[in-house]
Amino acid sequence: MKTASGYSTYQITLHWLIAVLVLFQLFFGESMTTVADAVENGQFASASDQALGSAHYWVGLAILALVLVRLVLRLASGAPAPTNRGQRWMQITAHVSHGLFYVLLLATPAAGLLAFYVGDPWGDIHSLAKPAFIVLIAVHALAALYHQFWLKDGTLKRMLSPAG
Ligand code: HEM
Ligand code: HEM
Repeated sequence: MKTASGYSTYQITLHWLIAVLVLFQLFFGESMTTVADAVENGQFASASDQALGSAHYWVGLAILALVLVRLVLRLASGAPAPTNRGQRWMQITAHVSHGLFYVLLLATPAAGLLAFYVGDPWGDIHSLAKPAFIVLIAVHALAALYHQFWLKDGTLKRMLSPAG
């Protein structure tokens, strides 16, 4: 993988945009479950659940499209080398967790589409994304804050201001 001097403006914008959209999905995803249950039982979901269910569909597809763009940029421009050169286990953990994020960001919308058009067991599989994302985001955000404010190695800063 290519080593860059930092993240580009596009990479930073996509990181935070996708993060906000994923949080929206995690906070309001249950409306989609309510709509799916109502359809299954021949009932109607409330207007707000229907609106949030529809938003879930389109925001989920937007995440999928943006992640594909992000991966192309990542392959083209690479990523900066880890700052904590001495601590091998931290570099490996960061590498693995970033990889897991990309797997989840692709697999979750794909399972969501299957849940929507095929039904079970994809709904149950898709719903597992919620705890998986929550654990990963918590570890990831804590690690970023630890790097920035404890190790003071500028890790958070490089995801806030572009290189160059
Ligand atoms: C990264 C993107 C996505 C995330 C993080 C996400 C997250 C969630 C969450 C948290 C739930 C509620 C689970 C629960 O009730 O415990 C849910 C349900 C659902 N989502 Fe998504 N979703 C995403 C993308 C999509 C897409 C693209 C579609 C379809 C086009 C979709 C279709 C569904 C369906 C059909 C359900 C109801 C599942 C069921 O219980 O049968 N999702 N999603
Ligand atoms: C849904 C939420 C989030 C997702 C899906 C996500 C995903 C990712 C991914 C995949 C990378 C690797 C980028 C690459 O090298 O290609 C990354 C890097 C990064 N993220 Fe997040 N992130 C999220 C939230 C956050 C939050 C809340 C923070 C800060 C508190 C944060 C701070 C960072 C930092 C500082 C980096 C750069 C790490 C480095 O340079 O080694 N992220 N994020």
